[in-house]
Amino acid sequence: MPLPQSFLNELHDRSDIVELINSYTPLKKRGRIHWALCPFHNEKTPSFAVYEDTSSFYCFGCGTGGDAITFIKLKENLEYIEAVRFLAQRAGLPMPEDADEGAFARRRRLLDVNREAARFFFRALNSEEGREARAYLRRRGLDNSTIKRFGIGYAPEGWGALREEMHRLGYRDEELLAAGLCSKSQKNDSVFDFFRNRAMFPIIDVRGSVVAFSGRALDDDKRKYLNTPDTPVFKKSRTVYALNIAKGTDTRQILLCEGQMDVIALHRAGFTNAVAACGTALTDEQARMIGQYADEVVLCYDSDEAGRKAARRAIDIFSKTALGVRVLEYTGAKDPDEYIAKYGAESFAQLLEGADNSTEYSLSLISRNCDMESDAGRVEYLKQAVSLLAKCPTPVERDLFAGRVAEQTTVSKGAVLEQIERERKRASFAKRNREKLVFARTGGGRWDISKIDRSKLGEASAGRRLLALLFARPELANRVSGRVHGGDFVSADEGAVFEALCSLAERGELAGLQSLSPLLSDAQISLLSGLIAESSGVNFSASDADFLIDKLVRARDGPSAGQIKEMDALELQGLIEKNRKPKGEE
Ligand code: CTP
Ligand code: MN
Repeated sequence: MPLPQSFLNELHDRSDIVELINSYTPLKKRGRIHWALCPFHNEKTPSFAVYEDTSSFYCFGCGTGGDAITFIKLKENLEYIEAVRFLAQRAGLPMPEDADEGAFARRRRLLDVNREAARFFFRALNSEEGREARAYLRRRGLDNSTIKRFGIGYAPEGWGALREEMHRLGYRDEELLAAGLCSKSQKNDSVFDFFRNRAMFPIIDVRGSVVAFSGRALDDDKRKYLNTPDTPVFKKSRTVYALNIAKGTDTRQILLCEGQMDVIALHRAGFTNAVAACGTALTDEQARMIGQYADEVVLCYDSDEAGRKAARRAIDIFSKTALGVRVLEYTGAKDPDEYIAKYGAESFAQLLEGADNSTEYSLSLISRNCDMESDAGRVEYLKQAVSLLAKCPTPVERDLFAGRVAEQTTVSKGAVLEQIERERKRASFAKRNREKLVFARTGGGRWDISKIDRSKLGEASAGRRLLALLFARPELANRVSGRVHGGDFVSADEGAVFEALCSLAERGELAGLQSLSPLLSDAQISLLSGLIAESSGVNFSASDADFLIDKLVRARDGPSAGQIKEMDALELQGLIEKNRKPKGEE
């Protein structure tokens, strides 16, 4: 389903392209234009221009250009729709799929049934049948106020307790199935409760709605956790447990745990900035969400090998964000929950204080995996350490850790630093290759004159000016339509841009690049952005349009350069008269 123009326009109004791009690469204003070093290719002097009036950018060096959506697409390497979602989230705008009337009502019902289910589970926990579950939670150190705070409940034994109660409240099986609260038997189509005899932890989104549940078995022989599958109101890759509470704490720090039991234990101990990625390995989306509320994240994963592996992955994911990362290390407990139960909150706070930054942490992991007693082991360590340190953004940090690696390997610090520099050169070479990839994708919107037939240079330039004109003055489209066609342009990309411009302009829907970006390829958007940049500040008039149209029409209908060469004087005379005509008609 295409996104409605009204939504794209609002998204455009709420996304300031200057502010957006400035958060990736610092912009400097000269005249009307904001300049920066191009984030899509390597350069020493800025040729990357951002235009506030057209909300577009264009790099005169590599020819990449577009609007805010294109920028995010290329920079964050996202699909079009993901880039839109990224910007919408940033602007606090609900996606239209969430806002569409029928879907909106259905979503509302799913949120309602989830909330009612949470109430039911909470009542069940505090009734006779919840006795065993209450004892379980008590054993795990959860008092009544914590149970209330997190809305913890109990899903009764049997197959239909929740279903029955929800029916009584007016919810239908379809809705219970859609919310993931019930399942359908494959044998006889009967509908039954999904969660049975489990302690129930509601999962609440940042807006405060119950969107899903995580059910914990009361004994460890059964499958330990059962989670709501993805539903129209719950995408686990985009949900962070307890972020609704953690976002309200007044530190710019988030503690990221593996499990919700850790989160609850930390909150109980006063660390209300603790969250967990629910039931999944950390995703890019979750990392970005955390980044909206914090400047630093401390990874508080389990102390086992699985936890260290998860931490290494998370470090990689967070390295794509602006967040600082530190990693908690401890012994004597398998996870933060157990650590706090054994050693108390005070001791945990000290652990937090002393948590290493991610480089220190990664170095110590590498050394742990190498045999530092043997030459071969130290060489291996040096190799891996160098590749890690090459990624440190600041020279100070590189210098500091190079010193440490030198001590551990008895190689001189100068030699370590030299290795790091060599690795950085290699990495920047690889980065240039990646830039070439963006270039290939956008085609580099630059005009390659060498590719155009010399005799067609005039019409090529007229065609390009006509595209810029149509973008600036869509109300002139009615003069063009019917006379010029996509096929009159010298390249298929230009023809496609023309068709898109005209069809939107005629419907009065051409509001800017955001109207075009869903219709055009990256290469076509770059091409148009280049034309917009070149004609920035130009005032196009109606007679400019007529002049350009005539030029294209004549090129199409008139004789070719080869034919003209063959003409006699009389034929030439006729041709000149004919060409004069359109002007005379005005
Ligand atoms: N998890 C899951 N399914 C499982 C096991 C774990 O979805 N079968 C998820 C849960 O969200 C859990 C997290 O992974 O909170 C971490 O798992 P684990 O460390 O095993 O959970 P703990 O928090 O230690 O659980 P408990 O203390 O209840 O044993
Ligand atoms: Mn655990």
